[in-house]
Amino acid sequence: MNNRILAILRHLRKPSRSERSMFPLPYKFARHTSSNRSKSSSGQLEGKIIMITGGGGGVGKACAIAAAKEGCTGLVLVGRKKKSLIETVEEIRDTNCKTLAISADITDPQQVERVFLETKKQFKRLDILFNNAGCNAPAVPLEQLKLQDWKRVVDVNLTGAFLCTQQAFRIMKGQVPIGGRIINNGSVSADRPRIHSSAYTSTKHAITGLTKSVSLDGRDFDIACGQIDIGNAKTDMTQQMEGKEPLMDVNDIARAFVYMCSLPLEANTQWMTVMATKMKLIGRG
Ligand SMILES: NC(=O)c1ccc[n+]([C@@H]2O[C@H](COP(=O)([O-])OP(=O)(O)OC[C@H]3O[C@@H](n4cnc5c(N)ncnc54)[C@H](OP(=O)(O)O)[C@@H]3O)[C@@H](O)[C@H]2O)c1
Repeated sequence: MNNRILAILRHLRKPSRSERSMFPLPYKFARHTSSNRSKSSSGQLEGKIIMITGGGGGVGKACAIAAAKEGCTGLVLVGRKKKSLIETVEEIRDTNCKTLAISADITDPQQVERVFLETKKQFKRLDILFNNAGCNAPAVPLEQLKLQDWKRVVDVNLTGAFLCTQQAFRIMKGQVPIGGRIINNGSVSADRPRIHSSAYTSTKHAITGLTKSVSLDGRDFDIACGQIDIGNAKTDMTQQMEGKEPLMDVNDIARAFVYMCSLPLEANTQWMTVMATKMKLIGRG
């Protein structure tokens, strides 16, 4: 296995001796019985294999936990920091969800390819991709924004989502039953900017274009694509807003995510905005 990619398989299959030495978490085989199913689960995501990029923190972590509690069968968590991924895996230990955590950088096409190969190998299919991983650049006047910061934001927020979507299309078009769902994490910045946010705002506007293109290109293959636009959820990304702006609990995003995932493929939440009620978005403050 590629050294840059750490796969943590849990509840999946008995690992070989060499694999066992790679897994930092104790391996445990969980049988799918109603007795060990999470008590709060309604099972509405049962049978689904879901991949979440940026699954080690903030929105991605909250959505992963919610999906596991709602009975999803398999979760693939992707992010660069192994420690964060392991923390998410720990939090869903008591569910029946099979988890594959892969440390990878979504801006690297080879690493992305590897993530999807591993997913196909372990789960045989992919029902939902959540393009959630994202980053921001320093809030500086436009003329002072460093090119490297611009490029980093474009690479993660836009190119990374595109690369994952491309790989997901290959799996979803070829699987039986055909199709799947792609959910893009936009932002209220997909519609209107904050001051000094040219890189972030540009990529989030571009995500709206990607959502539209993917919806169209996926139509003939039962691939649905929708976008969730968040405003001010409490995460690492919004830490600097604490005490300055109204924020909301990230778990309220997770509930919206579960709803989007739960729809049959014939129905789609094309756009959903979930924002802190009192944030100054509507009108002039
Ligand atoms: N919080 C909000 O109010 C809000 C509002 C609008 C939109 N959003 C969107 O929600 C998404 C998640 O943001 P968040 O608030 O949860 O922020 P966060 O806590 O900073 O999470 C960002 C996640 O993206 C991952 N990531 C970053 N670069 C990556 C890369 N190159 N490869 C793989 N993973 C990468 C990070 O994991 P590693 O560092 O381990 O790689 C991290 O898990 C973003 O797309 C953001 O734009 C959030």
